[in-house]
Amino acid sequence: MLDTLEAEKERFLAALKGVEGEEALYQLQVSFVGKKGSITGLSKKLGKLSVDERKAFGKELNRVKGEIQAALDGRRDELRDAARARDLGRVEDLTMPPKRPPRGSLHPITIAQRALIDTFRRMGFDVAEGPHIEHANYNFDALNFQPDHPARDMQDTFVVDDRRGGEDLVLRTHTSPVQIRSMLGRTPPVRIIAPGTVFRCDDDATHSPMFHQIEGLFVDRGVTMADLKATMIQFTAAFFGRALDIRLRPSYFPFVEPGAELDMQCPFCERAKGSVCSVCKGAGWIELGGSGMVHPAVFEAVGVDPEVYTGWAFGFGIDRMAMLMYQIPDLRQMFDGDVRFLRGFSN
Ligand code: DAH
Repeated sequence: MLDTLEAEKERFLAALKGVEGEEALYQLQVSFVGKKGSITGLSKKLGKLSVDERKAFGKELNRVKGEIQAALDGRRDELRDAARARDLGRVEDLTMPPKRPPRGSLHPITIAQRALIDTFRRMGFDVAEGPHIEHANYNFDALNFQPDHPARDMQDTFVVDDRRGGEDLVLRTHTSPVQIRSMLGRTPPVRIIAPGTVFRCDDDATHSPMFHQIEGLFVDRGVTMADLKATMIQFTAAFFGRALDIRLRPSYFPFVEPGAELDMQCPFCERAKGSVCSVCKGAGWIELGGSGMVHPAVFEAVGVDPEVYTGWAFGFGIDRMAMLMYQIPDLRQMFDGDVRFLRGFSN
């Protein structure tokens, strides 16, 4: 047994030389002096020896164990010193610029939306919000859409299966239902804008199934269409830095009477200088969206007396506004999620 002990010790010392890492060192320790290690195995045989043999072998065993432990500790210190030396010896180039985490930027639509909110806020408008999943009633009926109006068709509107509380639900097709929400249970004056995402079953180069609008609503005693025009001129002055002319073209929307398409004088024509303006294609006008005087039926749906109050409303596309601000040619680029495109915008 003494021979075996000595042989194991030699085997251990030989293996120790080849150990290069702390983990390997630990494994080696386990295989010799761990619970199931070979040296530990020998000590378990002590009981079978005579008293004298046990004394002698026990002594040897302890000596060898001590040597093994000392060798392990020594090698561990060596490995640690070597690692530390490697670390200290590493050459850092202190003239390199520091690594910065990548910085995100705002989406062009968010930038445009914030700019619009900021401008209208300064003009005295509150910001109102409504849910994306809207009561069909607020999206259509209360806005004076008749039950058979084509806009209600499933081809144009995303209908939500879940009829919570027995009510028909849709993804709102415009921000106009926020008009209903901001008038319900409230006495005018109401002066709000409602920016947000809207949804329609459209998908091509100029239409996305998800896009953004900003709604405006002003209701009080004696409000006229002249206020609408004046407010819009004031808006263009604040937003584009100079007052632009506003043009109203008769049009139809169920929730306004009279209704109008609202155009603004093209703010980019000047840039063209002699050639045809690429933004308005030489028309001189840019269509912003729809507008009009709030229909009495809408007032009745929300409990506002149309004999006492009048009001105007408008709804514009924000995406188009962002495309104008940044000269983005294709609507879809804005929703592709390509960071090479998105990185181009500063805020
Ligand atoms: N909601 C209409 C649409 O999405 C736009 C609109 C037209 C909004 C006239 C208005 C308005 O507030 O008065 O097509």
